[in-house]
Amino acid sequence: MPEKYSIISKGKNIMLRDGAKSDIEHYIRWWDEGEWRNYDAPWEVENEDISKKKRKKMFKKLYIKSKKYPRQRAIISTLEGTPLGWVNRYNDREDLDFWYIGIDICEDEYLGRGCGTEALELWIEYLLDNSDIHKISLRTYSFNKRMQKVAEKVGFVKEGREREIKKWKGRYIDRVGYGLLRKKWKDDKEEDR
Ligand SMILES: CC(C)(COP(=O)(O)OP(=O)(O)OC[C@H]1O[C@@H](n2cnc3c(N)ncnc32)[C@H](O)[C@@H]1OP(=O)(O)O)[C@@H](O)C(=O)NCCC(=O)NCCS
Repeated sequence: MPEKYSIISKGKNIMLRDGAKSDIEHYIRWWDEGEWRNYDAPWEVENEDISKKKRKKMFKKLYIKSKKYPRQRAIISTLEGTPLGWVNRYNDREDLDFWYIGIDICEDEYLGRGCGTEALELWIEYLLDNSDIHKISLRTYSFNKRMQKVAEKVGFVKEGREREIKKWKGRYIDRVGYGLLRKKWKDDKEEDR
């Protein structure tokens, strides 16, 4: 019997949805394998030492039980429900008028096939439509050219570059910041119609 989950947003090729129990085995595997781990703050991923039991508990708490509105996290999946990765939002400063968002496609064979672009567009649209947040930001690192391309493709504007913030694999890397304003996003969408 197909598992029940709430669909957050549906696109042409992928959807964003709440987590399901059947995602847990994939989620646990993603932390052990996959190209994504080389791109999303790899020094953090490398140092993570969390047991499978704890990961399972975390997944249930963050992706299945949490019904925060608007969602803080969602699973990116095919329209048939196969999980591919996640999107999230975060901000350690509640007094500011923006959220950071993040994304990881964790199934290697789905990289570079347009899923990331579609998932980001769905996530941004969902967050703007279900809140009055003024701005959405995204940060990545200088070595992640694909993320930078996708950010610009969906409408983020490059706002800054923090130079040489981390030495990684023998060389210093920069952090690159992007931002997207609600009004500009909505105006652009209106024009596309
Ligand atoms: C970054 C990520 C979300 C993008 O999603 P995706 O589905 O792989 O990307 P898409 O297929 O939608 O688009 C990729 C675009 O980048 C371009 N691209 C790929 N590699 C590139 C490179 N090295 N330099 C410049 N552009 C590149 C592609 O040509 C494509 O652009 P186009 O459609 O104009 O041709 C996904 O690759 C991912 O999760 N990567 C691993 C984890 C990660 O980097 N997370 C982000 C951490 S900040």
